[in-house]
Amino acid sequence: MSNWDTFLSPYKQAVEELKVKLKGLREQYQRSSKHTPIEFVTARVKPVTSILEKAQRKNIPLDRIARDMQDIAGVRLVCQFVNDIDTIVELIRSRSDFEVLEERDYIKQKKESGYRSYHMVIVYPVHTIDGKKEVLVEVQVRTMAMNFWATIEHSLNYKYSGEIPADIKERLHSAAEAAFKLDEEMSKIKGEVREAQQILIRNREQNNSK
Ligand code: GTP
Ligand code: MG
Repeated sequence: MSNWDTFLSPYKQAVEELKVKLKGLREQYQRSSKHTPIEFVTARVKPVTSILEKAQRKNIPLDRIARDMQDIAGVRLVCQFVNDIDTIVELIRSRSDFEVLEERDYIKQKKESGYRSYHMVIVYPVHTIDGKKEVLVEVQVRTMAMNFWATIEHSLNYKYSGEIPADIKERLHSAAEAAFKLDEEMSKIKGEVREAQQILIRNREQNNSK
């Protein structure tokens, strides 16, 4: 690749635009005092070293990465409750500013590692001085419990270069099970949690208007 900055610039643009749009949604929910299905949004462009490493590992020729590497641009939407994921997925599907190309449900069908998350690959149009350019963006939707687990597992994978020792893998499996139970328990007391959040919002509004 002759010029990475040029290649990555529409991806950077896409990630910045999506961050603004999705954070905007969260703010709208908050202003309407509705429960927001989006707790927080993170986004990143894959560093060049990681792109090269993945291209090598997955045997993707560099002239095909725009099509074959779907996570050069990545957005993560993290929520409180499992059913918020459905709300977010519907929100993403219903948008007219981009297309959904693929969906992978690692919640119904968790990965062997214990990983759970809902993945969508979208085709996002960026308007550049050379015209419209479409880039792929991977959108990961997950609860805070799923995110906690995935973040820890990712660090361990990094530490052990993908070869996590068997005993730690075992631990990770039971931690995944615990995260799943936590999501289940939180869903059961969701009504209670939401009422508490409503009270907090109302109090804040009353204090602000004083
Ligand atoms: P890669 O997993 O990225 O090589 O691509 P893929 O084509 O297999 O796509 P997949 O949907 O499986 O994974 C895409 C992304 O999901 C990864 O880059 C990670 O961010 C995340 N992911 C997938 N599996 C795991 C996992 O077992 N643990 C963690 N921590 N993250 C995962
Ligand atoms: Mg994978």
